[in-house]
Amino acid sequence: MTQKDISMQYRRLGHSGLQVSELSLGSWVTYHNQVDTSAAREMMAAAFDAGVNFFDNAEAYAQGQSEIVMGEAIKALKWPRLNYIVSTKFFWGLPAEGPTANRKDTLNRKYLSQAIDGSLKRMGLDFIDLVYCHRPDPNTPIEETVWAMSDMISSGKALYWGTSEWSAQDIRSAWDMAQRHHLHKPVMEQPQYHLFHRQRVEQEYSKLYDEIGLGLTTWSPLASGLLSGKYRNGVPPESRGAVKGMSFLVEGLTDSAKNAAVTKLEAVASDLGCTLSQLAIAGRRRSDPQTYS
Ligand SMILES: NC(=O)c1ccc[n+]([C@@H]2O[C@H](COP(=O)([O-])OP(=O)(O)OC[C@H]3O[C@@H](n4cnc5c(N)ncnc54)[C@H](OP(=O)(O)O)[C@@H]3O)[C@@H](O)[C@H]2O)c1
Repeated sequence: MTQKDISMQYRRLGHSGLQVSELSLGSWVTYHNQVDTSAAREMMAAAFDAGVNFFDNAEAYAQGQSEIVMGEAIKALKWPRLNYIVSTKFFWGLPAEGPTANRKDTLNRKYLSQAIDGSLKRMGLDFIDLVYCHRPDPNTPIEETVWAMSDMISSGKALYWGTSEWSAQDIRSAWDMAQRHHLHKPVMEQPQYHLFHRQRVEQEYSKLYDEIGLGLTTWSPLASGLLSGKYRNGVPPESRGAVKGMSFLVEGLTDSAKNAAVTKLEAVASDLGCTLSQLAIAGRRRSDPQTYS
């Protein structure tokens, strides 16, 4: 791959004016579980030096610890606040003693209005750039969630809101409701998108890009590492598949049909003079101008 192929591009996040690097750095399994603050800081510095301006997080990652690690790294890095974008996401909640009502698996107004304060505290920030509803909540009316997310933006605690793994129909309903009531509209969605998982981004959402200007920040570009080829002979001891609590991924990571497809892709990568991982990411960058990962 030439230098030109890997130079960083910036794209507007959907119809918003926010310029986001097409490659971002996420902390999901890694921060706290696999690396400490010092290593996290090094990773963020390397990404930032390569042009990455978006760092993705969620309150549920490592049960809040991932936000703490990223917050400590940001503090140490002393970047100007205008030069980076951070996100968090709400839905699953955090472990706590006592009743779980209104603190787990919810997007109700009560939870959302308090969850943002917890994330701000853990990250040591005055505001979060992007906040996501991490999953749909069938037990809260979408209207209640839209009002609560819009109020979060109006309060200045967050700048843009969006969804993650919502259906096209629910995203459209949320957007229409916000439009009708002059509220802050959802700007972006965060779906899974890689060579083995394409339907939602390429088909289900296809109308939303033009009709409501939906932006995407997609996840798992390497299918959790499967597309690097590392799972063809089982689960390597230092890999994500071997991390405590990640066993739910193992069946997919070691799927023989998928790993056979990865071997076929390796020949394509070799012809192009790149690695499997580079091919998987470069293919996405070219095939979908709306997205980055
Ligand atoms: N909204 C959501 O619901 C949601 C869900 C999942 C993720 N996300 C976000 O998306 C981000 C990216 O997702 P992801 O971490 O699943 O991305 P991914 O790129 O699919 O997987 C990354 C993992 O693959 C392995 N890997 C990467 N490059 C490799 C290489 N060259 N050779 C061998 N192994 C390699 C590493 O795992 P090991 O070395 O540890 O094996 C690495 O941590 C997350 O951090 C999170 O911010 C969001």
